Amino acid sequence: MDRSCLAVILAAGDSTRMKSSMSKVLHPVAGRPMIAHVMAAIAKAGISDVALVVGRDAEAVAKAAGVDGLQVTPVLQTERLGTGHAVLTARDVIAKGYDEILVAYGDVPLITEGPLLAARAALAAGNDIAVIGFHTERPTGYGRLLVESGELVAIREEKDATDAVRQVTWCNSGLMAINGRKALDLLQQIGNANVKGEYYLTDLVEIARSAGGKAVAVDAPEAELAGCNNRAELAQIERVWQERRRHELMLSGVSMIAPETVFLAYDTVIGQDALIEPNVVFGPGVVIEPGAVIHAFSHLEGAHVATGATVGPFARLRPGAHLAEGSKVGNFCEVKKAEIGRGAKVNHLTYIGDAFVGAETNIGAGTITCNYDGVNKHITRIGEGAFIGSNSSLVAPVSIGDGALIASGSVITQDVPADALALGRSRQEMKPGRAKEIRARNLAAKAAKKSGA
Ligand code: UD1
Ligand code: CA
Repeated sequence: MDRSCLAVILAAGDSTRMKSSMSKVLHPVAGRPMIAHVMAAIAKAGISDVALVVGRDAEAVAKAAGVDGLQVTPVLQTERLGTGHAVLTARDVIAKGYDEILVAYGDVPLITEGPLLAARAALAAGNDIAVIGFHTERPTGYGRLLVESGELVAIREEKDATDAVRQVTWCNSGLMAINGRKALDLLQQIGNANVKGEYYLTDLVEIARSAGGKAVAVDAPEAELAGCNNRAELAQIERVWQERRRHELMLSGVSMIAPETVFLAYDTVIGQDALIEPNVVFGPGVVIEPGAVIHAFSHLEGAHVATGATVGPFARLRPGAHLAEGSKVGNFCEVKKAEIGRGAKVNHLTYIGDAFVGAETNIGAGTITCNYDGVNKHITRIGEGAFIGSNSSLVAPVSIGDGALIASGSVITQDVPADALALGRSRQEMKPGRAKEIRARNLAAKAAKKSGA
């Protein structure tokens, strides 16, 4: 679209009903602040300039809103005098001159670019105002859209509405596109003579019409326009988001046995023919390549799992875990900031952190990389085709060469050359018959105690 557009995002609310020490737009949906979801939709609607109206937590909100491709100018609204007043706090940015102004709220994280583009198209078609509306069975609390022969004639707020108007089920989402060349002039005409004594952005419809302009309402799905006012609504929004994304992934060729138990992050990437078993949680930054298998009850964050690799059940991959093709990380294993080479196996009860594990190496059950000395982290390097015996402690910094063999139960503190056998444990002692003697002594002591009592 070659028409210039400024998005004005309202995020100055004080989030009272969230009962939170931070602004509601900072609360995450799919691991990302609500406001960033809105910003991503703005960017996808072909908009790059944003005026962000902030109140509490202004700095944190502005930071969270910094999404790729957007030029965000924060403007501070010190008094909350209504949506019309909020938009006017961005007066200086609006005055730079845009073809279109698109007003959206920071607390509607399910919005996609579709309705935003539809509103922009309605302006391009000659309307001065295009309001995004939705039909709902529960209109209470929303402004109602009053339409006559295809034109939007007014938006009436619930508190100012007559009983007849309250029966209307077509509602104002709050998202509105305004002719940018007329916006400042129209906005300045908004007054506050209403029940709440607020400057209502919604008055713009009647103001624009009385100046000879046309207004229109654009219909959008209710599910995209849900606002978040409390934690219950936040959880509901999360649920809708998860359902939507799981569905997209499944249609793109990802298998999920019980999708309702799989939790994705906003940026989770999963390739075709990957299988995600039940009860898997993805934190941010995960890439699963085609054909990988994530078994049940695994938790992944900041991890990369290559084609043909398998994870879990009950595995934890932390940031920087990088599993090469065909490698395996099995039950009760934790991997952090470590490369697991092609075909390498870390099958049971192991911690691998700050490490490199070479191709085809086998890490025995209970192996621990001791990467932390209480102050600093150190690196463990294990070559290709090595075998680490069960229950070994690898005290970093340490390296183990290709093809080396570590005897089980070893505490390895020195580098092990390629193809060497390292034993780092005390030698076994044997006392023939001694077990039998001890048992006899113990039984005699027990009998003496009984007869004495
Ligand atoms: C508003 C609309 C209503 C619509 C509803 C949809 C008006 C007058 N009413 O009502 O028609 O159905 O949204 O949810 O516009 N905000 C600020 N500064 C302010 C006032 C508000 O930043 O001074 C922000 C809030 O943080 C919020 C948004 O604007 O994100 C909407 O404000 P709110 O007071 O919730 O408006 P509603 O009364 O719900
Ligand atoms: Ca509201």
